[in-house]
Parts: sequence; C-alpha cells; structure tokens
Amino acid sequence: MPVITFANTKGGAGKTTAVLLLATELANKGYRVTVLDADPQHWITRWHEVSGHVPNVQVIDFVTSASLPQHISENKHNTDYFIVDLPGARNPLLATAIGLSDHVLIPIQGCAMDARGGAQVLELLQYLDEKAGIKIGHSVVLTRVNSMVTTRALALVKSLLSERQVPVLDTAIIERSAFRDIFDVGGTLHSLDPARVSNLDRAKENALCFAEEIMRKLPVRLPAAARMTGPFVRSAA
Ligand SMILES: Nc1ncnc2c1ncn2[C@@H]1O[C@H](COP(=O)(O)OP(=O)(O)OP(=O)(O)O)[C@@H](O)[C@H]1O
Ligand SMILES: [Mg+2]
Repeated sequence: MPVITFANTKGGAGKTTAVLLLATELANKGYRVTVLDADPQHWITRWHEVSGHVPNVQVIDFVTSASLPQHISENKHNTDYFIVDLPGARNPLLATAIGLSDHVLIPIQGCAMDARGGAQVLELLQYLDEKAGIKIGHSVVLTRVNSMVTTRALALVKSLLSERQVPVLDTAIIERSAFRDIFDVGGTLHSLDPARVSNLDRAKENALCFAEEIMRKLPVRLPAAARMTGPFVRSAA
C-alpha cells in the first residue's frame, strides 16, 4: 500500500484539491483509500463530513508527526493507497511524512512558477538522498493551470523543470470550478450534477488522467472481485 504525500511549503499551491481528486478517483476505481489529514484547515475532513459515506474512502483527522506512523501501520491491511495532505508551511511533519512515503507529489502552480515552496521540498529530498542514501520517488504536478494555456506553453514549463532534473507529471491539474464545488457540496466529481457545474466532463477527464498517471507509477493490484464488479464495490471497512 503505497504512501503518497502532497507537499509544498508554500500555502495555496493546490495540495488539498489534488489530494481529494486523487483519493476520489482511486476510490472510484475500487481502491481503498485512507486520507491522512494534517492540513490545519481540515478541508478533507470537512468534505468527508459534508459527503457522508463515500465508498472506499476513509479520512483520519488531526494527524501529527507522532501519530502518522501509527495510522499507517494500523490501517495497512484495509488500505490500498495512503494519501497525506500536509500543511502549507514548514512543519516537523514534512520530514516525517516524506520519510514514510513511497512517492512525494509537489504541486506547483502552473504558470506563476512561484516554485520556492516546492524547491524547499526538493531540497529536503536531496538532503535525505545525499546524507542518508534515502531515495524517495517524487514528481512535481503543475496545478491550477488555466484551461486557455496552450499545450506548447505547458510543454515549455515542463521542459524547463526537467532540464533541472525535476521529474514532472505529464498531467497538469487544470483550474476548474468543479474542483472547488466538490468541497462545497460533498461527494465526488461523479456525483455532481452536470447541469449545475460547468465543464464537468473536462474536469472528470483531467482528474482521471492524473489518477491514472499515479496508478501507473505506483501500481496496486486490485483483488479479482473488485476488478470484475467495477467502481464503488468495496466498502472502506
Ligand atoms: N485545480 C483547481 N481548480 C480550481 N480551484 C482550485 C484548484 N486548485 C486549487 N484551487 C483553489 O485554490 C485554493 C487553494 O487550494 P488548496 O486548498 O487545494 O491549496 P493547498 O496547497 O492545500 O493550500 P494550503 O497550503 O493552505 O493547505 C482553494 O480555494 C481551492 O479551491
Ligand atoms: Mg491544504
């Protein structure tokens, strides 16, 4: 059960939104997801309260540096993917979460290129590698990208980052009102009303593409029963 941490010490980069998109898309595929909510604003916990029961998703609140390893070991038998949502500031949890992670995702706002918070995370990953020989897979995910930004402009940003040896996901997360709406109304992109949400199909396509890229990087085999019966077949129990 891979542990995926979203980290950027700069607030507002889009961590929590990306956590929710990944968690709900993986759950929709039939994976059991545990979200470890360490965001002091508790957005995911509030979303879960508004949503009621969401199949395959459990949320653990008030996660601290001391409790994180315990949550992981206690839930490893009922979880396919752990997703950690960190605070948008430097915090002792950052090093603990990174140390326990199989992959660190660093959301950076697409074109603003205000990458300082992301750079701090990358420095910490480099430090662990150089000083302790601990190599943790990581990628930048470009977030809140304006839907009008051309593929060419995006390719340029990606190539600038990869020239600096920073791995970047192919899928960028687009700025979509649907991604805000799920926090207000609860549920998932799949339960939103297409008549009330603009560009819902595009939002779904984008979230699925993002989740599929992560699934390819960190594959988990679903039990045959879950594969055959499709989404929402397993309870979070
Ligand atoms: N792809 C997106 N489309 C539309 N709105 C977005 C998107 N990503 C983030 N936002 C909005 O931007 C704001 C900040 O996003 P979010 O809370 O996900 O960032 P964060 O990195 O978790 O912030 P913090 O560091 O404060 O925890 C929120 O109002 C959110 O609704
Ligand atoms: Mg957040």
